[in-house]
Amino acid sequence: MGELNHKPQLIEAAKVYRIGVLGLGEGRSVLSAVLNSEHWELANMCDLNEELCRARQKEFGIAGYTTNYDDMLNDPTIDVIGIYTPDQLHGRHIIQALRAGKHVICTKPLLNNLDQAEELRRVQAESGKHVFVGQSSRFFEPMLEQRADFEAGRHGDLLSVEAQYITDARWFLEKAWSLKGGFSWMHNFMVHAVDLVRWYLPDLTEIFGYGITSENTTEHGLACPDTMLFLAKDSAGRAGLIRGSYTAPPLDREIEPTISCLLRGSQGTSRAEYSKLQYARNFNTLAKDEQPDSPEFSQNAVSSETQGPEIIDLNDRHSYYFRFEGETHNAGEYQNYIEYFARCLDNNETPYPDVEEGIGTLVILAAMEKSLASGQPIQIADMKKELGL
Ligand SMILES: NC(=O)c1ccc[n+]([C@@H]2O[C@H](COP(=O)([O-])OP(=O)(O)OC[C@H]3O[C@@H](n4cnc5c(N)ncnc54)[C@H](O)[C@@H]3O)[C@@H](O)[C@H]2O)c1
Repeated sequence: MGELNHKPQLIEAAKVYRIGVLGLGEGRSVLSAVLNSEHWELANMCDLNEELCRARQKEFGIAGYTTNYDDMLNDPTIDVIGIYTPDQLHGRHIIQALRAGKHVICTKPLLNNLDQAEELRRVQAESGKHVFVGQSSRFFEPMLEQRADFEAGRHGDLLSVEAQYITDARWFLEKAWSLKGGFSWMHNFMVHAVDLVRWYLPDLTEIFGYGITSENTTEHGLACPDTMLFLAKDSAGRAGLIRGSYTAPPLDREIEPTISCLLRGSQGTSRAEYSKLQYARNFNTLAKDEQPDSPEFSQNAVSSETQGPEIIDLNDRHSYYFRFEGETHNAGEYQNYIEYFARCLDNNETPYPDVEEGIGTLVILAAMEKSLASGQPIQIADMKKELGL
């Protein structure tokens, strides 16, 4: 599980990879990313909805499209399939791509339950291809800044992680697939916050939470909780707090960020947030011989001097991250993650989150669901055993 601490490095990749993009709703962001990259070439794009294919053609000046996934699977010039179809179809579409000998980028969630987990593991192992889970929040600039500070040891010993994703996403229920079996606010939305906590606390051992389903969800015929709070701990006793709410009108972002990740450590605190594009931090100032990369560095090194709280405004990057209407999409994060994935392919390195991390997160979600149903804390090891994973 140590691999979760791998920090995405956004350095130059050497080769050019040909990608076929499946699903052109949110797939729009990855089209933009590919067309703005020196390391990617758009080989084809596919959606069952031909009108949408034509709209994307016009929007980006793209030559062709297909409404048949097989056309991309059977194209030997395609190296990678990017999957942006409804959650319930990810398992099937990833497995088809791997069987066709393609690497895969799949948007979150990797799967919408664990039924296909073993099959996915097996097919991937047989294929020898990479599967990268597009957990976009990790690749947002404030989150990357925070990760860099964490990797540099500036927080000292990590004590707790608090992540949230709070938004009024009732608009999402207009998508027909959200009302079909297999959609949940937890898997589709809260997974971002769960993934952030797991990025820093990869070895969660226990989780407990409460959740409630409001009339805003039930009036659409959906039964899944839309407002949830969870507490988790890892093997070292560090605490994680995960908050989510998806159908209530939220506060202004100035007051309560949509997605955020707060790290508390013995040497300081930081909070990365979305979508104000800002990063706040306050660390003890370490003496020169106590810098993390020096041999004398000790995680317990304490300095009486504090640097003082700072807020790093990253808004000069706004147009890189947000390219279409408003801030409802994730093009900049996708740009960052396709460049990272290309570098991994160049070096035949595993991109993270990979299938194992994706499945690990789904096990946590299964434990969260079980805790909501039982009112009890759930041991992650017991959950894995119960699921046979
Ligand atoms: N930040 C993020 O990472 C992020 C943001 C938004 C959405 N997503 C994910 O992207 C996925 C798609 O969400 P969306 O909002 O774009 O939904 P959407 O309904 O707008 O788009 C899905 C598209 O897939 C197409 N499709 C369905 N089955 C297909 C098939 N067999 N072959 C070809 N095309 C097919 C549909 O016609 C539709 O256009 C979801 O899994 C969602 O969780 C991720």
